Amino acid sequence: MNRKEIIKDPSIGNKAEAFEAFDDIPTNPNLTRTIGDVINARYGRRDMLKGALGVAATTALFGTSAMIAPRQAAAASASRYNFEELTWGNDETHHIANGYNADILLRWGDPITADAPDFDVMNQTAEAQLKQFGYNNDYVGFTALNDEGTRGLLCVNHEYTNEEVMFPGLGRQDRAGFEGMTKELVDIEMAAHGGSVVEIAIGTDGKWRLVKDSTYNRRITPLNTSMKIDGPAAGHDRMKTSADPDGTTVIGTLNNCAGGMTPWGTYLMAEENFHGYFWSDVLDADGRPDVAAQPEAAQMKRYGVPGRWYAWGQYHDRFNIDKEPNEPNRFGWVVEVDPRDPDAAPIKHTALGRFRHEGAETTISKDGKLVIYSGDDNRFDYQYKYVSNGTVTEETGVFGSSLLSDGTLYVARFDEDGTVQWLPLVHGEGPLTAENGFDSQADVLIDTRLAADALGATPMDRPEDAQPGPNGTAYLMLTNNTRRQPDQVNAANPRAESAFGHIIEIKEADENHSATSGTWSILVKCGDPAIAEVGAEWNPETSENGWFGSPDNCAIDADGRLWISTDQGSSWGKTGKSDGLYSLETTGDLRGHSKLFFRCPVGGELCGPYFHDNGETLFLAVQHPGTDGTKDFKGFERDSTFEDPATRWPDFDPAMPPRPSVVVVTKQGGGKIAI
Ligand code: FEO
Ligand code: CA
Ligand code: CA
Ligand code: CA
Repeated sequence: MNRKEIIKDPSIGNKAEAFEAFDDIPTNPNLTRTIGDVINARYGRRDMLKGALGVAATTALFGTSAMIAPRQAAAASASRYNFEELTWGNDETHHIANGYNADILLRWGDPITADAPDFDVMNQTAEAQLKQFGYNNDYVGFTALNDEGTRGLLCVNHEYTNEEVMFPGLGRQDRAGFEGMTKELVDIEMAAHGGSVVEIAIGTDGKWRLVKDSTYNRRITPLNTSMKIDGPAAGHDRMKTSADPDGTTVIGTLNNCAGGMTPWGTYLMAEENFHGYFWSDVLDADGRPDVAAQPEAAQMKRYGVPGRWYAWGQYHDRFNIDKEPNEPNRFGWVVEVDPRDPDAAPIKHTALGRFRHEGAETTISKDGKLVIYSGDDNRFDYQYKYVSNGTVTEETGVFGSSLLSDGTLYVARFDEDGTVQWLPLVHGEGPLTAENGFDSQADVLIDTRLAADALGATPMDRPEDAQPGPNGTAYLMLTNNTRRQPDQVNAANPRAESAFGHIIEIKEADENHSATSGTWSILVKCGDPAIAEVGAEWNPETSENGWFGSPDNCAIDADGRLWISTDQGSSWGKTGKSDGLYSLETTGDLRGHSKLFFRCPVGGELCGPYFHDNGETLFLAVQHPGTDGTKDFKGFERDSTFEDPATRWPDFDPAMPPRPSVVVVTKQGGGKIAI
């Protein structure tokens, strides 16, 4: 499908699904390395055949019994995760494993500043929304304000907005040529994007609650939050606009998907699908944006700018590339926020590169460096890692640290022999020279994708969250890629038309996260192990509740254990399962064994997850409840609207649409989760 077809396709019910579909259009032209001649040296004949020849040939050679994993309940005694797994399903509300509380902590529209008005969904204003919790909560982080960790600051990204369930009487606007949009509605959308920092505390009843009058509470938005730009691209000519002739300040951040907390408690917001917010009136015969006359046409094409998914550019010139062609260069970065200082302007750190950053999870390497893993979430795009030059100390571990501006960005090449090479994106090295269009390190970073193309990085199956783990490990969520052809299969992306994704485990050399090479293996291939055609691979003890599709976010808990949350988008009908949170064993006999812990209401995606340092509280973010794939929701079978949603979670108030919300999970009676 081209873009025009996607917008008109009646099977695509909302903006979230449209984003997913848009991601189906690969913008990476650098696919030749994987085409044709790949023999899977690492995984042996059976895996190679499954990927390259398809199921029929594999089944003929090995028989179906070799491909169907037994579906028995897990041996609980051996599991590192002590909880009774939840039964899979899909309905109007959320579910948590027995013995746990899952309480609603914050909902879209909840007043979060002392002077915020109560939420009035029928009379929304940008002014009110700027003081209220934003839409589509995604990343959640926490930093404690006291030694006991009973008070702290919750940092939450608000990725995007769904106008059809936010505003009465409006419906999907990208399908309708944005006819119903006004500046007022656009400004509300902008005010609902970005992030929230809120103080929360445990009450005498053991429940976490918002501290509403806290002076820490604030919103960060693309409408009105001024930010600094630092690092090698700051002040470069390509970063200058009419509003910012110095190229060093920018208003706002947007499409903040996952993120991270630094070891010193600042909050990193990743800017993901920034291309979707840019507008142009120059269209080709098919109605697609035509950037041929733009001076940066090649760069815009590689980044998918302008996406025209929102009408912001009709009311704010900076989002119209016909008027401000450099503004897109000022998005697609990682933003650092000091949650402890509401007056501190957030900082866009250009040293971390410009791409569709899914997240920005940090760790300290064995040799003391700050290391940040970040995937570029597009079909056939790349996995990155940033390593600081300096080491983390009391002096350097501060907001705005040089550790985030002085370092090396690397991109991953996954070799067939099971090694991963981290290729440095450094101006003047290898092909990253003026002859190839990279005049400076600023060019290398503004055009990170093009630089990574030149280095021969491995095009992946949509890198979502990447989580550093214990002992030099990192876990990469490759969510799915239905556009990978059989001749594009390789060892690290082992299935053609991968509908359910897979998870890669990296072991960095010497267990050192700053290493420039390591080894990798596939932890699981997702999907239903009982359907041979899917080609899933799980630990055989995984039950029918435990397997999942489309891993997206992930977290490591206080005991070093891995947890995965899923985003199947509009495709959840392929599994019949709501998105949810799963434990996933990484070691021992149960490696690759997964159990369901929490599941979302219909049409929602599970974001977060974030574990408190003491392992006793888990924060989850239910994003876009009631929207995705509701045509597959039995008994409903239509697209959701404000007036007629598939669920009204979490309020179930007939006057209220579904509301994206942060959920806080604790063990009944107290104690560590899953211990
Ligand atoms: Fe915003 Fe890649 O998920
Ligand atoms: Ca995501
Ligand atoms: Ca994460
Ligand atoms: Ca996703």
